[in-house]
Order: sequence, then structure tokens, then C-alpha cells
Amino acid sequence: LVRGNQEPDLAGRHIVISAGGTREPLDPVRFLGNRSSGKQGYALARTALARGARVTLVAANVGLADPAGADVVPVGTAVELREAVVKAAADADCVVMAAAVADFRPVAYAGGKIKKTDAEPDPIALVKNPDVLAEISRERPRPGQVVVGFAAETDDVLAHGRAKLARKGCDLLVVNEVGETRTFGADGNEAVVLGADGTETPVPFGPKEDLADAVWDRVVPLLPPRAA
Ligand code: CTP
Ligand code: CA
Repeated sequence: LVRGNQEPDLAGRHIVISAGGTREPLDPVRFLGNRSSGKQGYALARTALARGARVTLVAANVGLADPAGADVVPVGTAVELREAVVKAAADADCVVMAAAVADFRPVAYAGGKIKKTDAEPDPIALVKNPDVLAEISRERPRPGQVVVGFAAETDDVLAHGRAKLARKGCDLLVVNEVGETRTFGADGNEAVVLGADGTETPVPFGPKEDLADAVWDRVVPLLPPRAA
């Protein structure tokens, strides 16, 4: 499903989108993961392609059909996702971090399956993962590139969103409210697009393609001039 604006206003642009959720392995059969379906990131990819962009889609554990024409890079963990995004961002006009990146990973990986014994289990020690959005926002591998983050919050959505936008240093932050049943895995989404320039663009509940097109509408005016 591709809807709305299909003007080729992203023609000649390279856009990098991360989608899905990372999985941090504990042993060969177990991981720490999250409920991200990848649907919003894939909707961003399809709509960007419809608007003429070249799209690199860094896909973490997504069970969705590849959007026709996208360059899909499958990844598993946050560290792999960072590597793929940093590589693709080198010549990107815009980077959109729609993926749910695990904040932490287990310190140790057990090469063999962890076995149950009569003793109580040990706690799982964790270490921080790299923050890809903060890194890309700080480094801007290509001058003038536009960086977009996503945030799902459970309360004080706008206040948390504003603080997160400032902390990450991105240009736009798409914030939505989530709960047990809201948003994760659903086909629709409702959000507010916060701009580093202080703007707030509410996007009413609708298909994820509509939110994606609303994001591109905000990205287009921020893009650097096309190379002559
Ligand atoms: N993100 C990232 N790398 C991480 C964690 C998050 O690039 N290690 C990106 C996500 O892709 C998203 C944005 O940062 O675009 C916000 O993610 P979120 O989890 O809401 O932010 P955190 O800084 O991890 O804060 P929180 O404590 O709320 O999880
Ligand atoms: Ca997080």
C-alpha cells in the first residue's frame, strides 16, 4: 500500500532507513529482543521509493516482504545494525532510525545452550549498546544530511520527546504513545513529529504510510541542495 504524495520530491536522494528490532543473543537458541514489527520502517521505505528516492533499508529481524527496488541489508544485533547504518550513511541525504535498537546486550555469550540445574539461575549481566542515532546526529557523515529518530513513550509523550530530541541531536523526532496493545505490530499509527526548530506536527491515527509521508513532507524542505 502506497498512498498520498507520490511527487518525485525525493528523486536523486539516497535515504537510509533502519527497521525492525535488534536481538541480542544469550546462547545459540535465546536472545533479548523487543516487539517491533518493522512495519513503520517498511512503510517509510515504500513511500520514499514511491517519491523517487534510492533507499537502503537496514532490516533487523523483520518478517516482511522486501520493498521492490530497496537495497535491503539484513542485520541481527545492535552492533551489526550500527555497522550497516554507518556504512550506508556515508553518502546519504537522510538517515531515519525507525528500528527499535536494544539499549543493552548480555556481557557474555554462551557458545552452548545454557542448561537448567537444581540451583537458582545467575542474573544476566548487561552492557550498553552503541547509540546509533546520537552518533549519526553528531558525526553527520555527509554534510547537511537530515537525521530522523523515532520514540515510543508511555507517558508525558511530548515532554519526553522534546528532551530526547535535544539529547540525541537529530533534526526530527517522531513520537508516539504506546501501551500493551497500541502500535506494536498494528497497521496504523498516530504520532507527533517534533522538529529541532521547535515545530510540532501532529499526524492523526491512520495507516503507517500516512505517517511515513508526513515524515517525508517534513524532511524534504530540510534536505541540502542537490549536487549540480
Ligand atoms: N536508538 C539508537 N541506538 C540505540 C538506542 C536507540 O539509534 N542504542 C534510536 C532509535 O532507533 C530511535 C531513537 O534512538 O530512533 C530513540 O530510541 P529510544 O529507545 O526511544 O531512546 P533511548 O535514548 O534509548 O531512551 P530510552 O531510555 O527511552 O529507551
Ligand atoms: Ca531505548
